[in-house]
Amino acid sequence: MTAINAVADLAVEGDIAILTLNSPPVNALSSGVRDGLALGVAQAVADPAVKAIVLICEGRTFIAGADITEFGGAAKGASLFDVQTTMENSPKPVIAAIHGTALGGGLEVALTCHYRVAVPSARCGLPEVNLGLLPGAGGTQRLPRIVGAEKALEMVTTGQHVPAPKCLEMGLVDAIVDEGKLREGAIAFAKQVLAGGRPLKKVRDLQDKMDADRAHPEIFANFRKVGARKFRGFLAPEYNIQCIEAAVNLPFDEGLKVERKLFMELMTGPQSAAQRYTFFAERQVWKVPDISDDTPTIPVNTVGIIGAGTMGGGIAMNFANVGIAVTIVEMKQEALDRGLGVIRKNYERTASRGGITAQQVEDRMALIKGSLSMDDLATVDMVIEAVFERMDVKKEIFEKLDAICKPGAILATNTSGLNIDEIASVTKRPEAVIGLHFFSPANVMKLLEIVRADHTSKEVINTSMKLAKKIGKIAALVGVCPGFVGNRILGQRQREAQKLVLEGAMPWDVDRVLYDFGFPMGPFAMSDLAGLDIGWVKEKSNGATLRDVLCELDRRGQKTGAGYYDYDENRVAHPSAVTEKVIKDFIVKSGVNPRTFTDEEILERCLYPMVNEGAKILEEGKAIRASDIDIVWQNGYGWPVYRGGPMWFGDQVGLPKILAKMKEFQATMGDQFKPAPLLEKLVAEGKGFKDL
Ligand code: 3HC
Repeated sequence: MTAINAVADLAVEGDIAILTLNSPPVNALSSGVRDGLALGVAQAVADPAVKAIVLICEGRTFIAGADITEFGGAAKGASLFDVQTTMENSPKPVIAAIHGTALGGGLEVALTCHYRVAVPSARCGLPEVNLGLLPGAGGTQRLPRIVGAEKALEMVTTGQHVPAPKCLEMGLVDAIVDEGKLREGAIAFAKQVLAGGRPLKKVRDLQDKMDADRAHPEIFANFRKVGARKFRGFLAPEYNIQCIEAAVNLPFDEGLKVERKLFMELMTGPQSAAQRYTFFAERQVWKVPDISDDTPTIPVNTVGIIGAGTMGGGIAMNFANVGIAVTIVEMKQEALDRGLGVIRKNYERTASRGGITAQQVEDRMALIKGSLSMDDLATVDMVIEAVFERMDVKKEIFEKLDAICKPGAILATNTSGLNIDEIASVTKRPEAVIGLHFFSPANVMKLLEIVRADHTSKEVINTSMKLAKKIGKIAALVGVCPGFVGNRILGQRQREAQKLVLEGAMPWDVDRVLYDFGFPMGPFAMSDLAGLDIGWVKEKSNGATLRDVLCELDRRGQKTGAGYYDYDENRVAHPSAVTEKVIKDFIVKSGVNPRTFTDEEILERCLYPMVNEGAKILEEGKAIRASDIDIVWQNGYGWPVYRGGPMWFGDQVGLPKILAKMKEFQATMGDQFKPAPLLEKLVAEGKGFKDL
């Protein structure tokens, strides 16, 4: 075996050369890996004893893509394009041996090999779209030549990882070899290629599928139409589609030019920068500086949930989905039956759409047990309280749980903002008390805010983080403060949205600006959806707020056919003349001089205070890092991924501009806009949140 460089080795066995890459963690195509590939293949080609070349990787995976950390830096080493040309033009067959994942540039390298073999557990994909990119190393031109335009469109716009057996079916791999025997299998395959005198297959030369697809231009129009909602705001899906269109309509080299041009445009644009930042933020968020990965965890095989409402039921589903038994406790049989009924309905809906089988519905329901007695929680490993937000009620429950639950059981609350230290204080085991703030609907929303109270133990935190991963959530560890991270920042936006309306903006103007920014809906449409009467008490209502007046008019949101908006029979929202009059009357009554607002003003008023609040949260240590706040907002509140999150956004706008606006707002409207000291400090130092 010869070392080619620090990350590549070449061994020759008989007449087969085996080029092995070893660049942990994921064999990304760093300059070293590219050099290793170029030199290794060249050396094997030059060796007269070698008749075929197998490319294989050490570690957990085949090449998982370009090295994202190198993006934006100065180019070093062999270019990927040159490496691919060397491989594709090799006079000796090159066979890619795939395990783990062949993703992005990794699959693109494999597509310049003449053959591909994989173990059954391997997966292939072009996930660049998730980084706001497109496959920039010929992937958009080679993939459709094998799988056809329709499948290629799906793969490049979803970034899905396709399992090896499916890849075999599609022709993306040529053979499956035994699990754990990739090296032997690939060598045997190479020998067959030689023995059979099989040709040096170049994907770039395949033309049949492109010729057939050219007769069906409607493929693209249909695909755009079906995906329009999902793609809204994102540039990368459309650019990916254009590349596949180019593959169908242009000669290979011309198609490559289109790919290159569009790739560079995305790579240097703001969306991909935000999405690449998100990729790393999603991985950082799991890391807690003072809790090492080997901190012990508490086994959680059974979970108790208090409350069978929407929240409790949704939470229960998360656990049943991964085979963890759940006991849900309610006070009344009727409420319990209703809650269990909703869970069953949710599962059945998923089954009717093909998400799970009828048997899985039954299996999961069998894991969820109802009870009317908290005593049934004596043996569970963790309890999650999910009753309504009242401190006295929660304290009473925790006192009881402390007496009932076995020593070592974790006592969690799903509060969305109450003081968890106060809740923990009624127990004799504050170290076991933690916040697990799920977002509604809890069986769907990805975010989990894990709230660390003063005495929460590291074991309990580590257990909760690991459990979050197991149930498919993305978890951010936050500290105790009113509203925690997400709702605390939301409070700023909600307050300003309401105030803007009382100063003369219309709800639909505020909503439109935020929707166009990329949120799934604006705050007023959201209120209508949730119901304006949440927390509204008819008997106490005295027209003091806009909400009171609307509720008094029975405009309680979508469910009554009217709220801030009017709703037609298809539940489509329309600006409402009634609401407009209510607002105008309200303004007259309150003596305010109404004015008009530009879209930019609306955006600044709604979003800049969020950035400022994020800065306060950071300096108080309630979030570990700025990017954690962004993860919370992307996954819990619909902040558009291509805009990073409030903190990333703040850096992009420029903190000096945000600070100046906050000062201006403070001078004209009061201290709720007082700049965070951290914001002042960062501006003074010429830094951004990214530098923290
Ligand atoms: N470049 C640089 N670092 C990468 C990387 C990449 N392409 N892929 C993963 N990493 C790093 C991660 O940041 C992480 O680092 P950390 O341990 O310091 O946090 C480490 O590798 C392990 O990654 P994961 O925690 O994600 O490990 P998993 O085992 O859960 O997942 C994976 C492995 C499925 C390969 C996943 O990492 C992944 O999806 N990677 C990205 C794949 C991708 O997007 N490829 C396309 C890149 S763009 C491209 O190729 C452009 C080309 O068309 C020109």
